Order: sequence, then structure tokens, then C-alpha cells
Amino acid sequence: MNPQEFREVGHRVVDLLAEYLEHIEQRRVFPNVEPRTLTELFAETLPQDPCPAEKVVGELEEKLLPYCTNVGHPGYMGLITPSPNPVGIIADFICSALNQNIGAYTIGPAAVAMERRTVRWLTDLAGYGEEAGGNLTSGGMMANFIGLKLARDWASQDMAQQEGVQERWAVYASEERHVSVDKAVDAVGLGRSALRALPTDADFRIRLDALEEAIAEDRKRGIRPMCIVGIFGTTNTGALDPVRELRAIADREGMWLHVDAAYGGGMLLSHAWPMRNRGLELADSITIDPHKWFYAPLDAGAILVKNERRLTASFGLKPSYLTDELDRANERYQYYVHSFEQSRRFRGLKVWMSFKRYGAHQIGEWIDGNVRQAKHLHSLVTKQSEFEPASEPPMSAICIRHRGADPDEAQSKELHAEVARRVEQGGRFWISTTELKGKTWFRINPVNFRTRTEHMDQLLALLRQECDSVLQSRLQANGPPSE
Ligand SMILES: Cc1ncc(COP(=O)(O)O)c(C=O)c1O
Repeated sequence: MNPQEFREVGHRVVDLLAEYLEHIEQRRVFPNVEPRTLTELFAETLPQDPCPAEKVVGELEEKLLPYCTNVGHPGYMGLITPSPNPVGIIADFICSALNQNIGAYTIGPAAVAMERRTVRWLTDLAGYGEEAGGNLTSGGMMANFIGLKLARDWASQDMAQQEGVQERWAVYASEERHVSVDKAVDAVGLGRSALRALPTDADFRIRLDALEEAIAEDRKRGIRPMCIVGIFGTTNTGALDPVRELRAIADREGMWLHVDAAYGGGMLLSHAWPMRNRGLELADSITIDPHKWFYAPLDAGAILVKNERRLTASFGLKPSYLTDELDRANERYQYYVHSFEQSRRFRGLKVWMSFKRYGAHQIGEWIDGNVRQAKHLHSLVTKQSEFEPASEPPMSAICIRHRGADPDEAQSKELHAEVARRVEQGGRFWISTTELKGKTWFRINPVNFRTRTEHMDQLLALLRQECDSVLQSRLQANGPPSE
């Protein structure tokens, strides 16, 4: 590809995407297409001959754009993937063009400095001090894994990196934890049975009495309590575990405290519901995802550590082929020594550019808008009797359920699944379903700066209409209930 072709195709792609973003609300949220059709659309053998880039882009217009889930559409309120902010999109383009490899200083000196500054902004937001550090990761899943690895190595007094885990240890988290915690407990060699999934209170926060009981029981059986994973914004309802109380228990028992703020970390920027006073800085390590509620495009998660030296203790290996002999003054920061990954893209750029372009203030206003929308839906639901809310949303995730199939939970599950399917087919909204305390719920979660309050009114009206329609057709199929 010569520079002229690059220029022409680049301009065309920018025009295409500007058009896409400008009119995104007129598209369907989810495409009306069968998986089989998509497989067939791309069924071709490995291309042997070149093709002009313009034609390749033309193929994307025909085969990719019409079949995307348009997460930037204001009606997308599903699994936590935000409307990507436009400057973040441009940042990813620049990132690929420069292809700086953040793993080693020699493959991206300024990029390493910018990523370190971006991490510093995040540790400052979390309330950590000068000794803190961290890495940008592929997401919350990887960050939670690193958090558990830091916990394990610290608890073993840095023996586990060599010897593995020799004793029986336990990790404590609520039943509302993200599945990444289960995977992390497994990946660090404890086995999933080492995870104690503890019950929650009526607001879906970890029950401290249950935590105390589980620790006492483990002690009795000779199992060492190793780590508590607190949640700062659960995936289902945005519930916040009480970090101060968890810190006190972790200190008393000699445990590491990791807090998963992958989603809820956005609330650190909120103006209307400030959450910088909830004790997050007391955690030993924190997961926080700029690609969730800081509206950065995928991928940009982060692991933050109160004491950066713990990262080096866990990951600090220096193979000869990576050793930087030119670093006489030991000034070149090597991410590969302080993190799990080696080659990785310059994720910090999109977060850095987003903060520069919009400022934390503007991003905080988007977040407040999403929280306001969830609270609006909650207040609508509490004013009628067909639906019930799971809890009052402290963040933007809200679960509601239709009572029409009660008390038959199997029927209720079918009802919610069928309605979610119809909502997807309708193309104006996308929501998911979930389970909380044995019941099925619609899970609705705006993390989207295009969503407006009126969308919540429209969504509730649609859910009511579809629930009534499903119940009505069931009644017709089964006949009236017998006396
Ligand atoms: C609370 C929480 N932790 C971790 C994760 C995993 O994050 P990721 O999807 O970025 O790997 C999620 C994802 O939704 C989450 O909600």
C-alpha cells in the first residue's frame, strides 16, 4: 500500500465512521440476522491475491457494518460495553499506526511515560499515594487475575512464585462477584473450591456475619484465610461492599484485600453521587476498567496496587534477551518486569486522550446522566405494580422483573427470556436477563453518553407491552386456569 492509497482509504474510513456515529440512533441496536448467514457470508478460503484496500473497505460496508451490535446506540443497555468516546476511537487508530510495544522501554519510550502518567491519574482517583502503581490490562478479568496473584504471592511471603501453594488457603467474595474471581482463584493454583461464595443482604452487599462465620469455619478446619475480594459496584445491581469493614477483617486475619471496581470505578468521577469517600484506597489492589465506565473503546482495564513493589515481587523476571544494557542509570521503566504481559498495545493512549479531550468533569457528567436514568426507571417501576425492582440502583445497573408469572419461577424465567428475545428482535433496545436470589430479572445498564431519560420511559412501555403480549398468548394457548 503506497502513502497515497493509505491517505485515500484513511480519509474514506474516517468519513464512513463519522457518518456511522452521526446516525447511529437510526440503526437497529442488534442486527436481524441468523448466525448461519454470517458464517456463510465470510466463508472463503485464504485470499492468495492482493485486492485494493478500497475494495476491502467496501466489503466491510456490506458485510460488517450492517451486522454489528451498535453499542453506541442509546438503546444499548446490556452487558457492560460503553458507547466508545470518539477521541478514544481516533487514539486506537494512532496506537496501531505507531505500534509502540509498551512491554519494554526501548519499543516505546514516550508511550511508556504516557501510560505511567495515565496509571498515576487512576491511582490518584482511587485515593492511593505516591508508592502506588499499576498496569493497563485487557480488562477486568485479567486485572482480577493479577489481583489474586498479588494476594497469593504476598500471603506466601514470596514463596509461591517458586514453590506454588503448599497449604490449603481460602478466598472470600460475595455471591454477586464477577465470574473472573472464580477463574482467578483457579488460575493462581488454589482451585475453585477454595472460593467461599458468601450470601448478600437485601441490597446485594456481602453479609459480614456470613464472612466472619466462613473465616471461623476455615480456621477450625486448618485452612488459612488468604484474601477477601470486595466488590465496588456489582455487575447485576451496582452494589457496593463495605470496604472499611472488609479492611478491618482482612487486617485482623492477615489477609490481602482486593477490590473489584471494574464497573463501579466510574463513580469516582460522579459529581452528584460522589464515591471517593467509600474507602477504596484501603484496598491492597484494585481492578478498575476505563473501557467500562470511562467510555474508552475496548480494550483498557487496569490493575492498581497500593505498593507498586508488589508488582515487581510477583512478576519481576528479566530474561537476557529483554535486559536493557543501555539503561546505565536504571531510569528506563520496563513494564514487562512489573506486569504479567510482555507485548501489548499502547492502551494508555485512548485513556490519556479521553481525559485530555473531555476532562474528568465531562466524563463525570456522562456518568451522572446514566445513574439518573437508572434511578428514573426505578422510580417509574415503584409507582406501579406489574414490575418490581431488585433494589434502588446506587449506580446505573438496575434489575427489574415482571410479576405476571408468579409464583412459578420456571414460567417467569421463560417469560423474561422470551421478552428479552422480542426486545432484541424489535431493534430499538438491547437488555439482558439475570438471576438474583433465585429469581429471574431483566438487567438494564446504561453506560452510554447518548442514552436519554426518555429512553427509560420507552423501554418500560415496551417491556410492559411485550410481557402482556407473551402472557396473553400463553393464556390463549393453555385456556383459562381451571377452578
Ligand atoms: C464487576 C466486574 N468485574 C470484572 C469484570 C470483567 O471485566 P472484563 O469484561 O473487562 O474482562 C466485569 C465485567 O462486566 C465486571 O462487571
